[in-house]
Amino acid sequence: MTKKAVLAFSGGLDTSVCVPLLRDDEHYGYDEVIGVTVDVGQPEDDMDEAYDRAHILDDHRVIDASEEFVDDLIFPLIKANGSYEGYPMGTSVARPVIARHCLRVAEEVGADALAHGCTGKGNDQLRFEAVWRASDLEIIAPMREMNLTREWEIEYANEHGLEVEATKEEPWSIDSNIWSRSIEGGEMENPSNEPPEEIFDWTASPDDAPEGGEVVEIEFEEGVPVALNGEEMDGVELIETLNGIAGGHGVGRNDMMEDRVLGLKVREVYEHPAATVLLKAHADLESLVFTRAQLKFKPLVENEWSDLAYAGLVDEPLYEDLNAFVDSSQEVVNGTVRVKLHKGTARVVGRESDDALYSEDMVSFDTGGVTDDIDQTDAVGFAKYHGIQGRLRKSLDEDT
Ligand code: ARG
Repeated sequence: MTKKAVLAFSGGLDTSVCVPLLRDDEHYGYDEVIGVTVDVGQPEDDMDEAYDRAHILDDHRVIDASEEFVDDLIFPLIKANGSYEGYPMGTSVARPVIARHCLRVAEEVGADALAHGCTGKGNDQLRFEAVWRASDLEIIAPMREMNLTREWEIEYANEHGLEVEATKEEPWSIDSNIWSRSIEGGEMENPSNEPPEEIFDWTASPDDAPEGGEVVEIEFEEGVPVALNGEEMDGVELIETLNGIAGGHGVGRNDMMEDRVLGLKVREVYEHPAATVLLKAHADLESLVFTRAQLKFKPLVENEWSDLAYAGLVDEPLYEDLNAFVDSSQEVVNGTVRVKLHKGTARVVGRESDDALYSEDMVSFDTGGVTDDIDQTDAVGFAKYHGIQGRLRKSLDEDT
């Protein structure tokens, strides 16, 4: 019987090296390697890399999952104001989509094993396997199992006719999808080194961004962005367009230390222009339409949601429960937010909503705050109670 392995395949060095390794009798000894490349909105160059290297596979399946990624993972993330240690997650939410498609193909072709090219140091191994281990298929992670180094991989690749040009390869590792681009490794492994300008691809240098800046308007319906500058767009188009606009103003760069699930710290550099703008706008709109109690409580849910999403635990029942809470909260998150983009910054400059809990009449300095139901003098009674316990304690202390 032919032994088949399905490999999550990007066409980069790691996953390319996996192919001869999986076939090699001295290593894994599979007869057929089926590569699965899932399009989650990564740039065309990334997809081309997969197509260019696909000839080394026995079969190559390409799955267009951008829309699925945006609708099923990114929209819930926006609604949950999802972020990990202060940055909008990207890789972590794309992995489950990729993993699910690999598993589906493996079942379709009757594969014996699922393989990925992740190392044993990062988060991605955990995210793939959180999904894959629902099946009984064998899981193979050559980089992890063989403790491979980049040098070894380049040599092995060239011995097996993969024509990897070490000099041409950039020394850093990049992971992109429609929502975010992450760059790690190379000289940035020393956290005190400033990231070189050449690593950035989606964002202009804030120094070179246009002087006057630009205002963009985002419309939300039930917490989901539906229009940009008055033009209705589906999620994919909206995020792509906004990446272009906000990136042009140098918005969405992030240079940070990040704590991986395993506990290792890593220096990460990110570009996520649309994510920066949409998350800012969304949170701002919530502050207009939510009650104080909602605003105080929801961050607890958001933190739990983000931890699960970061770890790739989207099949954890709590993830579904939290999404149900978040969805219920989003019914009133309707309206428009204007964000000023200027030399690397994004600042909300206006918001409006039919669901606003704000009343200009009630709060205005100009009207004296008198409406049909409210009068400033009503507050006198409230003010008498306010702080009553503290005053009582103080007077008791003074008596003793
Ligand atoms: N630290 C990020 C995460 O765990 C990105 C990981 C992948 N990045 C990369 N450049 N290979 O989600």
